[in-house]
Amino acid sequence: MSNRVYAVFRSIGAYVPSKVLTNQDLEQMVDTSDEWITKRTGIKERRIANKDESTSYMGSEAAKIAIKRANIEPKDIDLVVCATVTPDYFNMPSTACLISQKLGISNVQAFDISAACSGFVYALSVAKAFIESGMKKNILIIGAEKFSSIVDWSDRGTCILFGDGAGAAVISATENKDEAIIDVKASADGNYWDFLITPSPGSVNPASKEAIEQGLQFVKMKGNETFKLAVKTLTKDVKEILEENNLEAKDIPHFVPHQANYRIINAVGNALNMTKEQVVLTIHKYGNTSAASIPMAINDIYESGRLKKGEIMLLDTFGGGLTWASALVPFSPKDNG
Ligand code: ACO
Repeated sequence: MSNRVYAVFRSIGAYVPSKVLTNQDLEQMVDTSDEWITKRTGIKERRIANKDESTSYMGSEAAKIAIKRANIEPKDIDLVVCATVTPDYFNMPSTACLISQKLGISNVQAFDISAACSGFVYALSVAKAFIESGMKKNILIIGAEKFSSIVDWSDRGTCILFGDGAGAAVISATENKDEAIIDVKASADGNYWDFLITPSPGSVNPASKEAIEQGLQFVKMKGNETFKLAVKTLTKDVKEILEENNLEAKDIPHFVPHQANYRIINAVGNALNMTKEQVVLTIHKYGNTSAASIPMAINDIYESGRLKKGEIMLLDTFGGGLTWASALVPFSPKDNG
């Protein structure tokens, strides 16, 4: 009998701020229209966190739900990984440390991952490796973003796209290969570093009056270039991961793409001949929540009863860096979930 240990996706949870910002609200703020935003992106509204809803707060609330649904206690967690590009504090402490503190977990390894919208799937790849190496048994991975804190609310090219929120999952050790995560692939190409960038604060542009006057603290994006590269990269990536694992698109009940733009999702879905029922969409109500987008979307299909035990999810994402990642993940709660 093999003693090999596999990583299993046990549970999901999410936190969604209650404040809604609609396209009509944005019409009052910048020169845009509900029609333009809907047609170009698929977004109708997004959630905006209030002052007390920090990234770590949203992440910890999502984590509490995921831990409960995994039928474990916070003390059973032996690693906390938080994916975010909108941490509570830019340098230290890490948001993962703050989430651990809010969960009442101490003496646990905790760190952040910076991979923009790919962060949650990057965290999944880290969790899988830690579990398979035998180093950890129950890992909490979180994607949490307060993107509203780095958006220039006078820039119509970016402010219409983003929203706030958090999602979390428990990844545990199992000896049962049938319930294990099938594959995770994560990549990056730093040649495209300036497609999505927040120029300050950082060691290149430390916080200064001049940096703020130039608006360097806000996210800058080459939208059109990012769009084209995203369609190309994502389509290639999902085809490869399916092929390498002897699966076909028709075998996947839930395609969970990063929710950046409906047209990107549609293009990739069509390239794979996916039906509408297979493709998970939350962009209309949450916009692009970066690292939180995929776990929030998984939580959506879980809470609506669409996601059943044993069903395979195909995750697929890209983001600033540029980074991209995909994963084949059976949903494997301990009981019927
Ligand atoms: N309302 C009305 N008009 C607008 C708006 C707006 N909100 N924003 C831009 N426009 C105008 C432009 O000024 C331009 O006008 P012009 O032709 O007179 O110059 C016109 O609309 C077309 O602009 P484009 O930028 O070419 O529009 P496009 O069809 O590319 O859509 C968008 C823009 C929605 C940003 C798209 O490019 C996109 O979704 N890109 C990918 C974004 C993304 O996925 N980012 C990566 C993930 S984020 C992360 O990693 C954190």
